[in-house]
Amino acid sequence: MTDQQLFQCACEALKMAYTPYSHFNVGACILATDGRTFQGCNVENASYGATICAERTAVVTAVTQGAQAFSAIAVVGEDAPAWPCGVCRQVLNEFSADMRVICGAAKTGEYQVVKLSELLPHSFGPHDLQQ
Ligand code: THU
Repeated sequence: MTDQQLFQCACEALKMAYTPYSHFNVGACILATDGRTFQGCNVENASYGATICAERTAVVTAVTQGAQAFSAIAVVGEDAPAWPCGVCRQVLNEFSADMRVICGAAKTGEYQVVKLSELLPHSFGPHDLQQ
């Protein structure tokens, strides 16, 4: 699975976004180390705080199907890149702090690739709670 393919997979997921309030569609596709991919889109709610981001939809779907180690996630906005929010950075960090984050815009097809550890330096994670 190439970065380009993962990016395209996130663009497909973006089409499923449920965004009646913000109309800001986000798609994600996370790549497990076993090669499986899991898509996610943002799912908004009339009680705004109950909204779930695309990245968390993807990672929760993956964990539900037995994947807990990831090598990369692609996240796309429609017109402009949608960088993962702080909560999503923390949730991704829970499973694979060194995964690559491919972030771009569906409309332009352009993306950047960074490490999650660049987006969430000095993170607090599972290792901090080990006895
Ligand atoms: N959103 C995501 O899906 N991922 C992010 O990391 C940033 C924000 C969504 C949540 C909400 O549905 C919309 O973008 C506007 O905040």
